[in-house]
Amino acid sequence: MKSLGTLLVSALMSQALAFSSIKPTISKATLDSSSLFSTPQNEFEPESSSTSSTSLSRRSALSKSAQALATLLVADTVSSSPAFADISYPFTSPKTILITGSNSGIGFDAAERMAKQGHTIILACRSFFKANTAATQISEKLNDPSLKLIPKECDLANLKSVQKLIDDLVADNIKLDALCLNAGIARNTAAKDVARTEQGFELTIGTNHLGHFYLTNQILNNSLLKDGGNIVVTASGVHDPDSPGGAQGSKATLGSLQGLEKAVADGTGQFDMVDGNEFDPDKSYKDSKLCNVFFMRELQKRLDESGKGIKAVAFNPGLIVGTGLFRDQNPIFTRIFDFAATDLLKVGENTHWGGGALEYLTLDSNAIGKGGLYYTSPPGSSKYGDAAFGNQFTITDVSKEAMDSAKGKRLWELSEKLVGL
Ligand SMILES: NC(=O)c1ccc[n+]([C@@H]2O[C@H](COP(=O)([O-])OP(=O)(O)OC[C@H]3O[C@@H](n4cnc5c(N)ncnc54)[C@H](OP(=O)(O)O)[C@@H]3O)[C@@H](O)[C@H]2O)c1
Repeated sequence: MKSLGTLLVSALMSQALAFSSIKPTISKATLDSSSLFSTPQNEFEPESSSTSSTSLSRRSALSKSAQALATLLVADTVSSSPAFADISYPFTSPKTILITGSNSGIGFDAAERMAKQGHTIILACRSFFKANTAATQISEKLNDPSLKLIPKECDLANLKSVQKLIDDLVADNIKLDALCLNAGIARNTAAKDVARTEQGFELTIGTNHLGHFYLTNQILNNSLLKDGGNIVVTASGVHDPDSPGGAQGSKATLGSLQGLEKAVADGTGQFDMVDGNEFDPDKSYKDSKLCNVFFMRELQKRLDESGKGIKAVAFNPGLIVGTGLFRDQNPIFTRIFDFAATDLLKVGENTHWGGGALEYLTLDSNAIGKGGLYYTSPPGSSKYGDAAFGNQFTITDVSKEAMDSAKGKRLWELSEKLVGL
């Protein structure tokens, strides 16, 4: 069994090797959780981001690691103090913005940023208690009695809870200017059991994709999003197996959607993996992020047909080990990796950066009004602070698979059947 130290060096090396071949301006360079916590067999073995997974010997790996680390430590991507000078996005009237998963991480930070500017934030969280606690924390931190924070329950792993939110919004006559589909879950990559949502869907796809799919459709079906409004999806670079993060561990692919096809055909609605294969938690997370990108692109097509001027985009916030996304992974390793990736190598981003990315796509006049797009930035871009948004953090290609419009359409149709729309 490998010691923790060996694992850390190997993992860092693996990441560093991926980074060392990246020029700071390459826009498809992305990383996130799944690359760090893959299954023990392949987890810490260095892997080329563009070729198949040939393992290096430890000696040559360590030598390459040292080179990569040296490169990183002198590279332009390294900075000791990220500069954040929160941007004020001008607006004529305050907006009403719903954010899923806003009690933690990126969503919480974005909620705080946008509430601070005078917008009404609907904190849509797993439970009312969590939403209310988040609202209280933001109020106390900003110490501003004029803040408009509305806590709501929205458990994406239970479509009845999502429907209750819809009913509440209708009853309260709330009209949204923006919808941020941000919540997400990543299970321990060593998990063997298939956890399920209330409706029996595999938990990761059920939460990250199908819960948001149902929420968005019901918001649109009930005209709860204003014409000209915008939808922002927190996706990930790991949706793309050709990205450095997506190339580590299991690779995202929906195959021919056999798992969903079967679940719909047999009427059970139960699937373990979208592609019909055996359960793989690492892949399931990456697949869910691929679903997010497929969903955003197909959604935009349908929105264009509706003529309501609503725009949908997706983004990759980069590697942010400090959020709650890693809570089911080994806590010691997560803490060490957070320090190494964020503080030492400066290839990770921080939570405030992630919240800023979500805020930028929700409020910036250069970003809103454009749809069907995917945004990302090179690793370590949070060193530029908020100035990176619209600069390093900008429009990028989605993965080859995500460009398959026919698959996106079929995923939509199957998702409709699964959630009962
Ligand atoms: N951190 C990264 O490196 C990274 C990289 C790329 C993409 N992302 C994406 O960024 C998004 C935000 O994640 P984060 O990094 O900020 O992690 P986080 O701190 O764990 O936030 C995730 C949020 O999603 C919520 N959530 C999970 N399951 C839910 C459910 N069934 N119903 C309602 N809410 C649920 C969580 O609520 P609870 O607290 O109640 O669980 C939490 O508020 C996710 O979509 C993630 O995939 C993150």
